[in-house]
Amino acid sequence: MRNFFGKSVAVGAIAMLALTACGSGRDGDSSSSGGGSDAKGFAANSLIGVALPAKTSENWVLAGDLFTSGLKEAGFQSDVQYAGASTTVADQQAQITAMTTKGAKVIVIGATDAAQLSSQVAAAHAAGAKVIAYDRLILNTADLDYYVAFDNFKVGQLQGQALLDGMKKKKPTGPYTIELFSGSPDDNNAGVFFNGAMDVLKPEIDKGNVVVGSGQKDVKQTAIQGWKAEGAQARMDQLLTSTYGSKTLDGVLSPNDTLARAIIQSIKSAGKPVPVVTGQDSEAESVKSIMKGEQYMTINKDTRNLVKETINMVKSLQAGSDPQINDTKSYNNGTKVVPTYLLPPVAVTKDNAAEAYANDPKLSLLTK
Ligand code: BGC
Repeated sequence: MRNFFGKSVAVGAIAMLALTACGSGRDGDSSSSGGGSDAKGFAANSLIGVALPAKTSENWVLAGDLFTSGLKEAGFQSDVQYAGASTTVADQQAQITAMTTKGAKVIVIGATDAAQLSSQVAAAHAAGAKVIAYDRLILNTADLDYYVAFDNFKVGQLQGQALLDGMKKKKPTGPYTIELFSGSPDDNNAGVFFNGAMDVLKPEIDKGNVVVGSGQKDVKQTAIQGWKAEGAQARMDQLLTSTYGSKTLDGVLSPNDTLARAIIQSIKSAGKPVPVVTGQDSEAESVKSIMKGEQYMTINKDTRNLVKETINMVKSLQAGSDPQINDTKSYNNGTKVVPTYLLPPVAVTKDNAAEAYANDPKLSLLTK
């Protein structure tokens, strides 16, 4: 079975597993430890490696800075690396290997390609390092110790619900015409976000209240490789030409803010009214767009909390205890169910932005 997991199969399969788990009481259990009982601790000033993907959204830029300062504050040495923009997979593989060679005790990975890291993770593990998947799951490896992320399925559900609510606010009765976009197929999150959104949208599509104008409903048809803004803009340009000559577009499911702004740009360039567009990440430019009534919503996944939880895991491992986890069901990576700590995402529209960003000094200024 394991050998049977090709890359695309695995991504779909994992997304489905997450969906199945989500449909049946997805809170997981609330056990407070996991990941094996062989934790023995290590020296307080050990090296911790952090391998992040390319800077495809602001959250990754912030995460690198926060890991550097937070690990230092906790007394660790750190090696924080980003994959480059073009050779992302090879870069990240080499970075993880170098961290292992340098004797890192924990390697935190924001995967650039979920299915291409199993050999590097196995080597790290064999050298005695613990491996934590940060934000994005790593597939097809028994050597991944923990996963820490915002609840990705919930992110999708919040986006789907906000899309419906936003369209209803503008036009009380349907049917509503929408288009669907999803993230990069090499990022396991992309499928989970999409399944979360479809969990909310599909019943409405089945009833005929919501119509996907182009008919492109399959995640493969909606995917934007590398989470690239230009990819989203090109697909939206093409959809406008093929489908929206005279038809009105009421809403667009966009998986994140970078793509949302590109989609809005495409629609404005075509001289069409901006429909209800979803997003994710609370990027400054999107918060501004929401405040002026263009982008409809985003998701707040406070990177400060995600990095803090990850560093807490590292501290527990250093002390020789099992890190806190709160989900043992949702994330099967094709080889094992990975002990996970999930944080709650928050949906943000113009209506609750001031409240949602109240303790974020930079974003709260934008809501005034
Ligand atoms: C993250 C999103 C982000 C995307 C593109 C995903 O894995 O969870 O927050 O928008 O990557 O960078």
